[in-house]
Amino acid sequence: MAGARNKGNPGVMGWIDDRFPLTAMWDDHLAKYYAPKNFNFWYFFGSLAMLVLVNQLLTGIWLTMSYNPTAEGAFASVEYIMRDIDYGWLLRYMHSTGASAFFAVVYLHMFRGVLYGSYRKPRELIWLFGMAIYLALMAEAFMGYLLPWGQMSYWGAQVIVSLFSAIPVIGPDLAEWIRGDYVISGVTLNRFFSLHVVALPIVLLALVVLHIIALHEVGSNNPDGIEIKDKKDENGIPLDGIPFHPYYSVKDIVGVVVFLFVFCLIIFFFPEMGGYFIEKPNFEPANPLKTPPHIAPVWYFTPFYAMLRAIPPILGSQFPGVVVMGGAIAILFVLPWLDRSPVKSMRYKGWISKVWLAIFAVSFVVLGYLGVVASTPERTVVAQICTGLYFAYFFLMPFYTRMESTKPVPERVTG
Ligand code: HEM
Repeated sequence: MAGARNKGNPGVMGWIDDRFPLTAMWDDHLAKYYAPKNFNFWYFFGSLAMLVLVNQLLTGIWLTMSYNPTAEGAFASVEYIMRDIDYGWLLRYMHSTGASAFFAVVYLHMFRGVLYGSYRKPRELIWLFGMAIYLALMAEAFMGYLLPWGQMSYWGAQVIVSLFSAIPVIGPDLAEWIRGDYVISGVTLNRFFSLHVVALPIVLLALVVLHIIALHEVGSNNPDGIEIKDKKDENGIPLDGIPFHPYYSVKDIVGVVVFLFVFCLIIFFFPEMGGYFIEKPNFEPANPLKTPPHIAPVWYFTPFYAMLRAIPPILGSQFPGVVVMGGAIAILFVLPWLDRSPVKSMRYKGWISKVWLAIFAVSFVVLGYLGVVASTPERTVVAQICTGLYFAYFFLMPFYTRMESTKPVPERVTG
């Protein structure tokens, strides 16, 4: 093992390496982890996702110190954090902006995977762990949003949990089991708090570790979609690889600086982001007797919410919409097996793949917009078309990726 070099040596590192593979881990994952030399800006988002995760964990721990997880005290305790706790406003805004930043970064990170075929063999497990992270992240954000116990927290949770009751036979019991009550109540708040603060962060952390272990087992993909391990020098080092540390550890600092610049700008000047990061009705305490006129989830859920609203109920049941919404997420899990192209990266795929990727991306963004605004008959038609295109992108993929002509892939990475 490379890191055995300090074993038996005098000094602190020798003492540690005799008892724990510290140098070996440093070498395997950083100093001797060879990453392709042609990473571009899309490769910043993995490390940025880790940064945001750490931000959420740290600010979350400090918020928990002053938050009161009861229906009677939650709203007031958030106000107390905002007004009376030293830098409480900063902690809260870092956490609420961090939630939106997490999704922005993760969506760009996923798009990079789609762009360069990073989900393809041998990286299917990295993708599957990534999808599990995405699901856990959605659950984490949904439960966290109930905690301030504002009007949108309450009614958003009411709408989403009631969707479970649309499932035939078991639905109503399932929704009651999730809530722990017949309506969203303090009981629900209390269990969402424990899941948000303890259970899901542990799951998220564990999944991120698995994600990175799987990545380091097979090695990173790159914008050319070429396996750098296929061409090695006499020492077994990939010809197109460079050690992650110091080359990418330093390069990632550029991404971190740009990210923090934007992040701080939002925290200090636009923390509510015009109602997109913290919705306006959430400045009013939850009131089970007063439904807000327009209930919409936070922006990162709205593409799926628009799909839900686009599907008309059958015999008064919203179940078809729930199936479509669930299907839109589920289909992402099988992406590695839908793409049959002989090449990985969009750079070498044919124009049909490129056009479909553009259609998919535009549909997703339009759906995101439609999920924010109130629905009208015209908007519903647009949402139905976009939902159809979203699914068509996946269902037709096995065909267009196989029949289109691709460009020749170079022997070595290009840059
Ligand atoms: C907490 C969330 C996440 C964290 C902290 C995270 C972290 C990382 C890191 C550090 C890398 C290596 C650097 C890079 O390629 O950018 C990576 C690679 C990758 N991630 Fe994630 N990730 C997360 C979520 C996801 C999600 C949701 C997906 C997709 C469903 C995903 C799919 C991938 C893939 C396919 C790669 C390999 C990319 C390549 O080699 O080209 N990740 N991830």
